Amino acid sequence: MYQLCPSILSADFNRLGEQIKILENEGVEWLHIDVMDGMFVPNISLGLPVIKSLRKETEALFDVHLMIEEPGRYIDDFAEAGADLITLHAEATKHLHRAIQQVKAKGLKVGVALNPATPLSALDYVLEELDMVLIMTVNPGYGGQSYIAKMDDKIKELRAIINEKGLDIDIEVDGGISAKNVAHVKECGANVFVAGSAVFNGDIASSAKDILEAMEA
Ligand code: DX5
Ligand code: ZN
Repeated sequence: MYQLCPSILSADFNRLGEQIKILENEGVEWLHIDVMDGMFVPNISLGLPVIKSLRKETEALFDVHLMIEEPGRYIDDFAEAGADLITLHAEATKHLHRAIQQVKAKGLKVGVALNPATPLSALDYVLEELDMVLIMTVNPGYGGQSYIAKMDDKIKELRAIINEKGLDIDIEVDGGISAKNVAHVKECGANVFVAGSAVFNGDIASSAKDILEAMEA
């Protein structure tokens, strides 16, 4: 299963619903929603009311990427707002295992995100619990940054571990993904591709088409 997962961080928030409809018409089924608290990352983005309001407009899977300190404090709220999949940063909580269980208790899919400098060993005792691992391919906080080439190795290593253990876990990549490199990161072993600026800067329909085509090639 391969998914393009547009990050609405780069959308025009004045036309958010309309832009999401354009993506749905192109066959997009997942939406990546970046929540930033100005503490875990320097930036502040959007939160619960926006998710709640979008939930009424679309059936897409809401992939909520929490870039917030101690995300365990807000799992219930994001579940109620309409998240389908909640991804927590391993670096953001003292109690990763507990936070994972909180998401699962809500009946949602759960992912763990790793910053570029965080080793895969952070997943050693929780991997089997997860539906997805998010390999950050930029330092989180902003759209429009360049893919960190060293992350190729991390994706390949993770895919090898997942295959070796016979697990069914998605590998999502986030940061600097475009039609130019999506085939390459797919080759490395990723299967969920977040793209923000590459989708929303310019003509949304044709940008999405280009990425989907490169992804499915
Ligand atoms: C960055 C966010 C990303 C961001 C990606 O912290 O997690 O989801 O929107 O943007 P691009 O695709 O422009 O690198
Ligand atoms: Zn993200």
